[in-house]
Amino acid sequence: MGAGMTDKSEDLTVEIASLGPRGDGIAESERGRLYVADALPGERVRVRTGGKRGVGFVATLKEVVEPSPERADPPCRHFADCGGCSVQHLEDGAYGAWKYQLVAAALERVGFDPDVVAPLVRTEPAGRRRAEFSAFRPRASAARTFFGFHARASRHVVEIEDCLILHPDLMTLVAKLRTELAELVSPGARWDVSVTLAENGADALISANHAPGPDASLALAMFAEREDLARVSWKTGGEVEPVAMRRRPVLEVSGHPVDIPPGVFLQASAEAERALSQLVCDGAAGSNIADLYCGTGTFALPLAAGGANVMAVDGDGAAVEALARAAGTGGFGGQVRTEIRDLAKRPFTTAELKGFDTVVFDPPRAGAAAQAGELANSDVARVVAVSCNPATFARDARILADGGYALEQVTPIDQFVWSGHVELVGVFRR
Ligand SMILES: C[S@@+](CC[C@H](N)C(=O)[O-])C[C@H]1O[C@@H](n2cnc3c(N)ncnc32)[C@H](O)[C@@H]1O
Repeated sequence: MGAGMTDKSEDLTVEIASLGPRGDGIAESERGRLYVADALPGERVRVRTGGKRGVGFVATLKEVVEPSPERADPPCRHFADCGGCSVQHLEDGAYGAWKYQLVAAALERVGFDPDVVAPLVRTEPAGRRRAEFSAFRPRASAARTFFGFHARASRHVVEIEDCLILHPDLMTLVAKLRTELAELVSPGARWDVSVTLAENGADALISANHAPGPDASLALAMFAEREDLARVSWKTGGEVEPVAMRRRPVLEVSGHPVDIPPGVFLQASAEAERALSQLVCDGAAGSNIADLYCGTGTFALPLAAGGANVMAVDGDGAAVEALARAAGTGGFGGQVRTEIRDLAKRPFTTAELKGFDTVVFDPPRAGAAAQAGELANSDVARVVAVSCNPATFARDARILADGGYALEQVTPIDQFVWSGHVELVGVFRR
């Protein structure tokens, strides 16, 4: 925190130095670091300081005094309110450069040459086959239910009439869900609604801190019938139960049909999944491959279909079982061994890694420091690391490099268009 920094709100005029990983403009003011949503590097802006965030403070943009030449009109009319996107106000070339730089800078901070980063792979915006929405009905007796995305850094629900990132079929369903849920959500209740477009109909999972009750269950089952949804499930606490099970939703995962369990991890866009999968298959070599944090088989399935023997491991038992069934359906079940295992607590040890030609790992945002430590001591010739967090990837890449691996290439992929998220695939070789 800068000297003299206080919690007191005040108006300041500052210059934005950079665009942070969440898409906020960052200013180093005499008061300390400020995070300003909707502000761009090089801009002079008037802001009102707000609450504490990390080493600095959030500040609200009041006026752009001197705009950046890279400022653009946001293509979506909901951009000012909706938290689904954070960077639509930046000209497209500069936007691509920012995403690239999020990866290059993270690697440079831990001592890698940023030239190892290949050009950003772009994906079409309207490609999201899965999205998380929120339904909220305020307690006031006359209040109606709001259904949409959260506003930025807030639990307030913004209703969207159209959306540039969702697959059009998903957007059509949003409008229908809004009408359906209007009367179903009780005053004061909040439902999180995850919708996935499977090949044979939509799959909805509603999470709430209460059971659905008979009226809502019946209404949701009738909605599923009317709109031809494949399945509706309800989650309370850790328990998932079906509300309507019309058919098992089947999704093409890297080109292979997988019957997906409710709420399982999936790559959010088919185009990004293809790009990730292609990069992993190109980076892997040899006939014995371990796919750690495998999910439903985005990498294990194409690797096995290509002839490799694959050891696929994940902590989510339902995902691993779905992957094993899909491998059997694909006719290469004999090449795929699976294990359900907590890899953060029990990474594959150096001894267990013996005999693998390539190890693929794709952990959640926290990364896989313990697994990277075991790999660093192994004699596995190739490691392909997939990540959705450049900072933890860079940390894990440093562990591998200190263990003797050369980082050959890192390819960033823009799956979550107009957000601060970026995926990447890194290829290491001994
Ligand atoms: C980013 S997803 C990748 C999944 C898969 N590779 C894909 O592309 O579809 C991360 C995966 O890690 C799994 N996971 C999270 N924490 C884990 C842990 N501690 N041990 C094992 N698996 C874990 C999740 O179940 C999820 O499938």
